[in-house]
Amino acid sequence: MSTAARAHLEVAGLTKRFGGLVAVKGMSLAVGAGKILGLIGPNGSGKSTVMKLIMGIERPDAGSVRINGVEVAGWPSHRIARMGAGIVFQHSRPLHRQTVLENITLALLPDKLTQLLADPQTDKRARAIAERVGLSGVLDRRPATLPFADLRKIEIAKAIARDPQVLLIDEPFAGLTAKETAAFSELICELRDDGRAVLLVDHNVKSVARLVDRVIAMYVGERIAEGSADEVMRDETVRRVYLGGSLETAARPESSFRDATPFLAVDSVSVHYGKAQALDNVSIHIHAGEFVSVVGLNGAGKTTLFNTISGLLPYSGEIRREGSALRGHSAAAIARGGIVQCSEGRDLFVYMSVRENLDLGGQHLPAAERAAQIAWLFDLFPVLRDRQKQAAGTLSGGEQQMLTIARALMMKPKLLMLDEPTLGLAPVILEQISKALERLRQTTPITVLLAEQNVTFALPHADRVYVLEHARIVWEGEPAKFAAEMGTGYL
Ligand SMILES: Nc1ncnc2c1ncn2[C@@H]1O[C@H](COP(=O)(O)OP(=O)(O)OP(=O)(O)O)[C@@H](O)[C@H]1O
Ligand SMILES: [Mg+2]
Repeated sequence: MSTAARAHLEVAGLTKRFGGLVAVKGMSLAVGAGKILGLIGPNGSGKSTVMKLIMGIERPDAGSVRINGVEVAGWPSHRIARMGAGIVFQHSRPLHRQTVLENITLALLPDKLTQLLADPQTDKRARAIAERVGLSGVLDRRPATLPFADLRKIEIAKAIARDPQVLLIDEPFAGLTAKETAAFSELICELRDDGRAVLLVDHNVKSVARLVDRVIAMYVGERIAEGSADEVMRDETVRRVYLGGSLETAARPESSFRDATPFLAVDSVSVHYGKAQALDNVSIHIHAGEFVSVVGLNGAGKTTLFNTISGLLPYSGEIRREGSALRGHSAAAIARGGIVQCSEGRDLFVYMSVRENLDLGGQHLPAAERAAQIAWLFDLFPVLRDRQKQAAGTLSGGEQQMLTIARALMMKPKLLMLDEPTLGLAPVILEQISKALERLRQTTPITVLLAEQNVTFALPHADRVYVLEHARIVWEGEPAKFAAEMGTGYL
């Protein structure tokens, strides 16, 4: 018997159009029991769509999807789930009013709702699944209070609740630290060792390469390469359209910034959420025109720092812009004054078009200036020009990230605060954003504060770096000294 005949999942000729756009074109793949197939490709190449088509969340225009030999293409997704397929979505969407345990329990839901909460078996299974993915400690918490990695674990728990034989996992590593990524990788290996067929999508190519038996690379909806991870990563076309080149660094010494009073000074700032201290006596400063990175793991306090600067949180200590205190200014006034935060939550207007989102960002600009700014941004992110009329909510993950950054730039900020801009972006897009930042650095007076846990991106784009750990600044210095002084934990 050939491998393909024993494969749990076989896809052939799969095609999906959205209006004039062919998102997936004649895709074929096969994943056997106990195997992991990696699916890589630039943002918008159709990876998530392939998963949605397999799962019946989108209806294919053509092609075949077989699970254990049974043709399921075109079936509704609950029937495909019953055939043994499960999906971990790219974005976490827990029920916020339910606890972790309830979220998992709901995924275990038998077809009759009434059996749900009464059944002690269900409760036992939900707890077992929580244990397996590492959520036992937080069963009674609500999702909003959990760190990012735990939200991803809830998605995995939901996906494996019904013990799927075919498991589709979309970007499990995005936003995770190196340690969390290692733990997730181990969990994925275990799920494979159970004998499941796993289809894995992620832009963390190193982690994907370590896990997979084979890799397929996609580009504009089609397969462009297939083979071992090594073979595919060496492929010329894959390198060109996906992996891109290395990032260049060009830090400027602090002494080259002549302003005696820094553009922004955060002075001994502390923030509490109830009893928890989110910022502990944090002091940082940024000169006009300087690029500063705040590096820290999930939960270190980066987003809290940005929200505080933006005027969204009460704090003790002092924040000064060009010498005068920001306290008492509303968040809206601070933003209007040119301190603009581009948040990792994306908060785009999902039902509005790409163009409308951008226009809103630039609504304060005179028409001619707005048009010029949009033209400049379309040069920076050509995909947004092509997708002007598409609803923001239907963009691929990486495309949404680009739109978020572009919308912030539409406001022509003096200080742009970028919160984890690299989340979920293909390496080649990182290179594009990197070049865009470099162009901003060389050709505009903009000041940038970047929060990242991805140091390979944060260091090249900083003149100076701060490290935030457990609510405190623990290191400050030039990027060139980071590796020697902060060590391997971050790299
Ligand atoms: N409902 C929709 N309507 C219109 N276009 C869509 C819709 N869903 C997806 N698309 C488009 O189809 C293309 C493929 O999207 P998909 O989400 O599969 O990309 P992806 O490879 O998962 O990208 P990423 O790595 O950024 O997550 C994208 O260009 C996206 O904008
Ligand atoms: Mg995707």
